[in-house]
Amino acid sequence: MKKIFVICLFVVLPLLANAEGDEHLDKANVDLSNQKSLQNGARTFVNYCLSCHSARYMRYSRMAKDIGLSKKELKKDYMYAGNKVGETMTVAMTGAESKAYFGIKIPDLTVIARSRGPDWLYTYLRTFYTDSSRPWGVNNATFKDVGMPDVLWKLQGLQKAIFKTHKDAEGNAIKVITGYKTVVPGTMSKAEYDKTIHDLVNFLVYMGEPAKMVRYALGVKVLIFLAVFLVLAYALKKEFWKDVH
Ligand code: HEC
Repeated sequence: MKKIFVICLFVVLPLLANAEGDEHLDKANVDLSNQKSLQNGARTFVNYCLSCHSARYMRYSRMAKDIGLSKKELKKDYMYAGNKVGETMTVAMTGAESKAYFGIKIPDLTVIARSRGPDWLYTYLRTFYTDSSRPWGVNNATFKDVGMPDVLWKLQGLQKAIFKTHKDAEGNAIKVITGYKTVVPGTMSKAEYDKTIHDLVNFLVYMGEPAKMVRYALGVKVLIFLAVFLVLAYALKKEFWKDVH
């Protein structure tokens, strides 16, 4: 019993430590079984992100198949870059151009959900705020001094951060954001914008590991098989042992 307790402690403690990051992240609550959400997220991605970020390891055709799009729908609403259906999601901007405009080679987003995590992305894309000291006039509460413009501002609107200063144990002044105030309204309500970002993050999570959907589908089949097999095995056991008793 003692041993089990100690093992549990070692399993649980690191989880707790992990959960206690120094930043507060909102929950993305991804749901890969929701195809409408994935399609919506893919549309936002190709419309608002793919002009700068590539998704070099994702093929349009694979995406269409996984999220339930016909070839016609795919071509009409999801492909702008002049790519072919079988190609990967590249951008026209070269690394050198990206460096010239943004001072950095813009990262590829195929597996960003695996490196950053869905909650981080969900929070990041909702926490841009106006900051006139930054080159694009915006800063980000989740990724300080980020080099990315607030590309979704027309949807979300522009928001101002409300700061509060408090002193830490050593007496250093620390500025923290306690909330946001909309200064220019966007075309979406807060709930609509949150939903849009939820769908976008859902799509990014799918893209980071497309095989996950196959695993889910397979997992359900395996469980059904095991359930049926259990009934059969039980019937068989009864049959074998009925003469022994
Ligand atoms: C105008 C070009 C542009 C567009 C459009 C754009 N981004 Fe960015 N993005 C950047 C740049 C530049 C950076 C690098 C920022 C840095 O490292 O300071 C970046 C960084 C990021 C990062 C952080 C990557 C990291 O280092 O972990 C994420 C996540 C991201 N973008 C997501 C998105 C999403 C999602 C969209 C679509 C809604 C989008 N971006 C649209 C230019 C863009």
